[in-house]
Amino acid sequence: MAKRIATATGGELIRVKDLAGYNKITLYLKGSMRARRRELDEIEPAIIDVSGHSVIVVGTPVWAWSPTPAANAAIAALMGCEGKKGIVFATCGGKAGETLAMMKEALAAKGVDVVGGFAFSQKELTDEQKLGELVSAVKQAAGMG
Ligand SMILES: Cc1cc2nc3c(=O)[nH]c(=O)nc-3n(C[C@H](O)[C@H](O)[C@H](O)COP(=O)(O)O)c2cc1C
Repeated sequence: MAKRIATATGGELIRVKDLAGYNKITLYLKGSMRARRRELDEIEPAIIDVSGHSVIVVGTPVWAWSPTPAANAAIAALMGCEGKKGIVFATCGGKAGETLAMMKEALAAKGVDVVGGFAFSQKELTDEQKLGELVSAVKQAAGMG
């Protein structure tokens, strides 16, 4: 989804790698708990400098109704984001819970004005109309019409 947004808007795509090394079991036992507690995993890149950009889009899978610890870390790693507009999105099985609100709050604490939020359930992942709405919101935030 991030690739699609980047291609449609001419944005820079930054892939964040979670270095926690979860396996299929610890993903649910440890990962969910860490997500619920709003903890941060170590990520690569450790610093994400967005000073050259006008809009910041952050996406995450939903873990335990929350952003992943890697997404929390990605927001914490943002540099040069103050005063910029933001859009958040999440993919989930069907229950995003407080994920978007939590991301919005974390970004607001870094001075980002979050102007849109989109949660995609498994079924909606192929919903071109909803993806189009997300792309339009990003374009509008960037002043691209
Ligand atoms: C540890 C874990 C916890 C999850 N918790 C939720 C949840 O609370 N609500 C939900 O709708 N989906 C939940 N899911 C499903 C994921 O959100 C979904 O599989 C994900 O968005 C797919 O994206 P991905 O392929 O990038 O991981 C969870 C998945 C994992 C692995």
